[in-house]
Amino acid sequence: MSPAFDGIEACVFDAYGTLLDFNSAADQARDVLGTRAEKLSDLWRSKQVQYTWLRSLMGAYVPFWQVTGEALDYALETLQIDDPALRSRLMNLYQQLSPFADAAPALREIRALGYKTGILTNGSPEMIVTGCQHAGLSGLLDLILSVAEVGVFKPHPSVYELAEKRFGVRREHIAFVSSNGWDAAGAAHFGFRVAWCNRYDQRPEQLPGQPHAVIQSLAQLPRLLRRGGGADDLADL
Ligand code: LAC
Repeated sequence: MSPAFDGIEACVFDAYGTLLDFNSAADQARDVLGTRAEKLSDLWRSKQVQYTWLRSLMGAYVPFWQVTGEALDYALETLQIDDPALRSRLMNLYQQLSPFADAAPALREIRALGYKTGILTNGSPEMIVTGCQHAGLSGLLDLILSVAEVGVFKPHPSVYELAEKRFGVRREHIAFVSSNGWDAAGAAHFGFRVAWCNRYDQRPEQLPGQPHAVIQSLAQLPRLLRRGGGADDLADL
């Protein structure tokens, strides 16, 4: 069997949860949130992604920035927090998320191996561009692509198709990396070569489309790409 990552030309990343740590927003407001920070962050994230799926099904696309605000409102209301200043602070913090420590080193190594790099995200163009600048990742990316160009969220195939078109690289020559199991499934179903970065130690999704490799950290990615490695030695599915 030929190794899954042979013939790769571009390596495309999910943003939130993969390169940028969405938990860092609530974490930085811990002075006000205290022990509620984790609960708030979990609810915020889960509502945010649910709303993207639901809006896609409803044919009711709005920019991810708006979805992020609406999900935050739901989470704050659930925790019975009525604090407009905190809401605005958390939204500002979401534009300045911390990068994961393994993000920049992995991007640097992958570029040194000769691959093009990029982001394919639900994020609105302004928020992801600002986020990458703040995180010091902009100079390590050839392309930052947002679903805003197609007006529907992941895992709609037209989103993944955008990377194929904009990189000018056929799907089987694109390595896609996401920490979201559902995004990894969608991308594999579309035809990318997928590495699921299972940062959050989750169970495999029972969906069409299986990742070709499972890694725990982006630090494992250059090795996977360098040798065109397959799922055999790195996957723990
Ligand atoms: C993104 C979300 C799904 O960056 O994490 O697209």
